Amino acid sequence: MSTPTSGAPRRPVSAPADPAVFVGFGASGDLTRRKLLPALVNLRRSGALPTTFAFIAVVRQADVGGTLADEILTAASTHLETPLTDEERQWFVGRIGVVVGDVEQPSLYADIATRLGELQASHGTGRNALFYLATPPQLFAPIAAGLGAARLLDEEAAGGCRRVIVEKPFGHDLESARALNRALAAVMTERQIYRIDHYLGKETVQNLMIFRFANSIFEPIWNRRYVDHVQITVAEADGIGTRGGYYDEAGALRDMVQNHLFMLLALTAMEPPISFDADAVRDERLKVLQAIMPMTRPMVERDVVRAQYVAGRVKDADVPGYLQEDKVAAASATETFVAMRLQVENWRWAGVPFYLRTGKRLARRVSEISVHFRQPPFMMFRDTAVRTLNCNVLVIRVQPEEGITFHVDAKVPGQALELQTVAMDFKYDEEFVQPPSTGYETLLYDALTGDQTLFHRADSTDVSWQAVMPILDAWATGGRPVCYEAGSWGPEDAHELLERDGRTWRRP
Ligand code: BG6
Repeated sequence: MSTPTSGAPRRPVSAPADPAVFVGFGASGDLTRRKLLPALVNLRRSGALPTTFAFIAVVRQADVGGTLADEILTAASTHLETPLTDEERQWFVGRIGVVVGDVEQPSLYADIATRLGELQASHGTGRNALFYLATPPQLFAPIAAGLGAARLLDEEAAGGCRRVIVEKPFGHDLESARALNRALAAVMTERQIYRIDHYLGKETVQNLMIFRFANSIFEPIWNRRYVDHVQITVAEADGIGTRGGYYDEAGALRDMVQNHLFMLLALTAMEPPISFDADAVRDERLKVLQAIMPMTRPMVERDVVRAQYVAGRVKDADVPGYLQEDKVAAASATETFVAMRLQVENWRWAGVPFYLRTGKRLARRVSEISVHFRQPPFMMFRDTAVRTLNCNVLVIRVQPEEGITFHVDAKVPGQALELQTVAMDFKYDEEFVQPPSTGYETLLYDALTGDQTLFHRADSTDVSWQAVMPILDAWATGGRPVCYEAGSWGPEDAHELLERDGRTWRRP
């Protein structure tokens, strides 16, 4: 599998999306500069952005209004693999309109409506509009209400589609997530809501379904008869950077597990959907989350590890501990690492543990899912020099070096009977030409074309919050996270979590 199987590496192609105006709230913020605009530029480069396209940047500060288009394009350019050309800059500047105002004021939405009308007329963008909420989360509900009151979400009146893309975090707990879902549902239908999870936009994550369901050899063994356990690791070498204010309120469980890791779990464990229809796929993802065995307090104490990093060395540099980071409370008990053992209680997975772990300031950045198969019977090797047989492990590497590796035992050449684990490897880079990506291209393209498959539905945000609430409740009543050294693979407790079951974490 290490060389391209079909001639030259393949370059993906997409048809241009429908004409639309993209309305970005929080457009002077980091996300727009680092991800959204670069993603739109990449989409245009690959021919996936319609020529009849315009962008309205909604910002709060009047003083940035005049030069904003140029300024955010310059910033966006630094996040592109190849900087903007003059032609591209002109193309985008000509299509960016700026609306300045306060999202709590109705006049802002009247201004947006006017600007929309102007851009529709001047750029032939048709009547479709996408509203992207890249603002602090407390503004999501007020913006939805403002758009609703101004009838900007009324598709019949507009004569085109009206979609709202909601960034994370989607709620702080079950109650706030429900309140947000209610606020959105009050002014639009579920079909108009795109709750983003950038992990679902990652190629390997999307490939999980294809890998499982477009090949016939995996499904028959993808169950409790053959699978011993599953590990999901999302390790980051970086710390919290400048996001201390947000992170100290959130912690790893809310920031990573409730959304990203649960989606990796859902795609790994789900049943085959009856079609690629968005709801058929989302129904199956939901069922996995619903099957997570609810945690009791003793289970939280036994099966969940919460930890916080102390100073250490990462990538050959000394780094401070979490409590020394900017905007972190002096005695903060926020976890920067979580490891847990989950049970998915359904016919396919009963009795198969799923071990999840994620953390900041770990030894290196790596995200992977590994499926560990049961050990084969040993008796045939009893009278040989072979002492143990290794389990087959299928590793789906989400990042970096995206690909899939299957570890099997093979005989070492020679007269002695000696075994060694070898790898069958598929690497994305070798098979495909991957277009430059910020990770948002597919998600934006899907929102522009009306495909909700890679977005959370209201019921799945609800169920995933339900699954983590017992843990948050148990932690809220006291105790402190255990410590781990920055640059390590997490605290000893996380290793013990598996050792107790006679297993070990795979060293990526
Ligand atoms: C974000 C989290 O959703 O995902 C961050 O808020 C985290 O804390 C990031 O660093 C990780 O994303 P990626 O794509 O770099 O693995």
